[in-house]
Amino acid sequence: MTRFPPPMSLLAELTHRCPLACPYCSNPLSLDRRQSELETQDWVRILEEAAALGVLQVHFSGGEPMARADLPALVHHASSLNLYTNLITSGVLITQATLAALDEAGLDHIQLSFQDVTETGAERIGGLRGAQERKLAAARLIRARGLPLTLNFVIHRENADRVAQMLDLAHELGAGRVEIAHTQYYGWGLKNRDLLMPSAAQLDAATDAVVKARARFGNSLAIDYVTPDYHADQPKPCMGGWGQRFLNVTPSGKVLPCHAAETIPDVTFPNVMEHALGEIWQDSALFNLFRGTAWMPEPCQSCALKEIDWGGCRCQALALTGDARATDPVCARSDRHEVVVAAAEAGHDGDFAYRRFTGTGRNETG
Ligand code: FES
Repeated sequence: MTRFPPPMSLLAELTHRCPLACPYCSNPLSLDRRQSELETQDWVRILEEAAALGVLQVHFSGGEPMARADLPALVHHASSLNLYTNLITSGVLITQATLAALDEAGLDHIQLSFQDVTETGAERIGGLRGAQERKLAAARLIRARGLPLTLNFVIHRENADRVAQMLDLAHELGAGRVEIAHTQYYGWGLKNRDLLMPSAAQLDAATDAVVKARARFGNSLAIDYVTPDYHADQPKPCMGGWGQRFLNVTPSGKVLPCHAAETIPDVTFPNVMEHALGEIWQDSALFNLFRGTAWMPEPCQSCALKEIDWGGCRCQALALTGDARATDPVCARSDRHEVVVAAAEAGHDGDFAYRRFTGTGRNETG
């Protein structure tokens, strides 16, 4: 039987609870509630199975992972297994005490998200009053403790004109790295796509701001720049290829090759409460569904780039064509490329659908 190389990274989505309500959240539209979250001992076993499988890095994510009181214990356990630990956080729950607990547990790195550089812009997206001030304070606390810091800005039509200021802020706060990542249109981002989509002129200006900042800051600030697929004509190798480098574990224990995989129809989603992580990685129908190149239709099958882009993004193909096996319509060679062009130029009326737990009218944190 074929044995596939181990994944490099585990995305541990500890909870879908979050104090923010960003309309581009990559979590699914149907969020896992607190009652369905895995227990501490389940995550301990997952971390042990991940290390045994050959995983090198664990990214504690959510929702807001700091909403889980057992986060320092999980970081400590991961660290004791020699896993590199990264915390992906909104920062609004960071205090001297919570940060000290994580640092003492052995946390290696923090990725702190910002919604904007202006308080008004940030609060309009995140929906939490005072969040910007708390994030700025969190960044300063993180640097004061000497922890490596990456800032993450998600770019969309309402903040795309402020990319230069975002890069200045990252430098001023002492981040070693900043991600300027245009919105990816999955989950809530797909639901709000028409309101979030930047114009081609905004994209060009944002790209220009990144180029100038790279020249200005040199090696003192690494800048990762993620462009929006919808203005491209070549697909990206989503997740580095389906079932090749990453696995996500959701708050309720489903194991997925990417954060939007739950949209794929007619497939069973394996759960860590029923199967070992290694068994899921190697043998599950889900992880083998689009692994490698054998599944690809034409023109992908005869494309010279098929082992570079690995067929692009299956969830995007599904969202835009109704068929997860179709050529990613971002590709100019797709016979449905025009749906991407039309979406990039669509109208922009209406109000955001904010990320919320259906039926509660608010986000839950505790
Ligand atoms: Fe699922 Fe790209 S998000 S394959």
